Amino acid sequence: MLEINILTLIYLIASVTFIIGLKMLSHPATARKGNLVAAFGMGLAIVGTIFLYRDDDGNKLHNYGWIFGGLFIGGIVGTLAAKKVKMTAMPEMVSLFNGMGGACAALISMIEFGHFAKMGYLDKIVQSYEAGEVVQDAVLTRPVPIETLLTIFAGLVIGTVSFAGSMIAWGKLNGKIKDFSFKGQHIFNLVVLTAVLALSAYLIVVVATVEPRPDPNIDDVIPKDLGSMPLLLFYATFGLAMVYGIMFVMPIGGADMPVVISLLNSFTGVAAACGGFLYNNNVMLTGGILVGAAGTLLTILMCKAMNRSLKNVLIGSFGGGNKPSAGDGGNKPQGTYKEITLSDAAVLMSYAHKVMIVPGYGLAVAQAQHACHELEKLLESKGVEVKYAIHPVAGRMPGHMNVLLAEADVSYDKLEEMEQANEEFPTTDVVLILGANDVVNPAAKNDPSSPIYGMPILEVELAKNVIVNKRSMKPGYAGIENDLFFQPKTSMLFGDAKKVLQDLIGEIKNL
Ligand code: TAP
Repeated sequence: MLEINILTLIYLIASVTFIIGLKMLSHPATARKGNLVAAFGMGLAIVGTIFLYRDDDGNKLHNYGWIFGGLFIGGIVGTLAAKKVKMTAMPEMVSLFNGMGGACAALISMIEFGHFAKMGYLDKIVQSYEAGEVVQDAVLTRPVPIETLLTIFAGLVIGTVSFAGSMIAWGKLNGKIKDFSFKGQHIFNLVVLTAVLALSAYLIVVVATVEPRPDPNIDDVIPKDLGSMPLLLFYATFGLAMVYGIMFVMPIGGADMPVVISLLNSFTGVAAACGGFLYNNNVMLTGGILVGAAGTLLTILMCKAMNRSLKNVLIGSFGGGNKPSAGDGGNKPQGTYKEITLSDAAVLMSYAHKVMIVPGYGLAVAQAQHACHELEKLLESKGVEVKYAIHPVAGRMPGHMNVLLAEADVSYDKLEEMEQANEEFPTTDVVLILGANDVVNPAAKNDPSSPIYGMPILEVELAKNVIVNKRSMKPGYAGIENDLFFQPKTSMLFGDAKKVLQDLIGEIKNL
């Protein structure tokens, strides 16, 4: 009993570390430590469960070989993947790991339903173990409680949708899967979802209300034999939930992916919390609820940042659909653009009062954050005020630009959020756009026919001069042309962001 109390205490400590860790993650200065604090709590909970957990009959966990084998292999794969991953591939990895969380939650539901429907009987098999061997099976006659079944089906459906959706999101983020939709897809999705819910409700009712029947072999009754029907229907529900997860993410347009990813993240949290309910495991429950709640809040924030309702995201096709592929150079030509030389850009920036840097996905691709910070310090040494304008969905994951710039020790005070930055552009002499595109596209404001119409953007054209650094005239993530590049105030400075910044620093030093 003392051990169980110690385990409860461990779960309490772990839950508190999750909350503290999450709080610390909300500021770049404490984010790393926050991650470690929460990871420590998770490690403690895992070790505590492995060694101190006892079931209702006082049995310990017995299959240590499988547990440690899984921990070892998973630990090595996870560590190598996290060490090897490039910063720009981080969102894909987050999506992949999120999908794995959903799959785990769905597997828990499958195993637990399998227990109830084992060998065609809707019963609960209680197994005792001795030296790792099953020595006794006893059949319980109490019906499976309805709340247990509800939790199993919620975990199955939400976890499976999250897994399938995250895999599609992973493919879309790394460019392997293209947006896909067909006429009547929303109706098709609705039909599949209805079938999933109807099958789940039917199975819950069948299992929870099954009639007991006498068992001639033991002095007891066992539930009526329903054959293999429940298991078959259960797997059909799983299959349909997979189809729904895939078809739900497939048509969602490029620019809406941030919203979808955080929504799937909250799904995984809720599915994990179902596992916590099922096993009466407080730490799993707390962790799941925290992820679910944080993911939901992030989804709301992302919707606000894109100026979209969740309904629009889910049934619209924003920034996607019939877009040109990112590699074809964009849509029809928009006129002429002008280029600026490195030396002219160096002069313009050195003699400015205020320079605003707009970082985007290309800065992460080029890993140019350190060069960017060096340029900032150099300009400041010449008396220029330098700030960064951060769009909430710049890059490929929430807070991407904050993390990137923090890596180069850019002071957090220099980062301005979108609303603040938009107020400052009219008094800015030079805006330097480094690998950003969609987040500065004026079509979001001016062109009602544009797929990104309505998304708030950084209004860089209010500044006196705009210099855009990118490698070509290709479109950004949403795959659409950017009229900003053809405006009279704008000059293009082509090249890889890191190389261009290093050359620019050289030019400014030589002035
Ligand atoms: P994008 O619109 O994707 O534009 C990035 C630009 O960087 C590209 O036009 C590319 O042009 C340029 N680039 C690429 N590599 C470069 C390099 N080495 N040096 C210089 N430039 C380079 O990026 P954004 O403005 O940051 O917008 C983010 C987009 O991603 C939005 O549509 C957003 O909805 C979407 N999204 C965001 C998230 C989150 S949560 N942030 C998640 C998923 C999707 P070139 O090829 O011509 O160089």
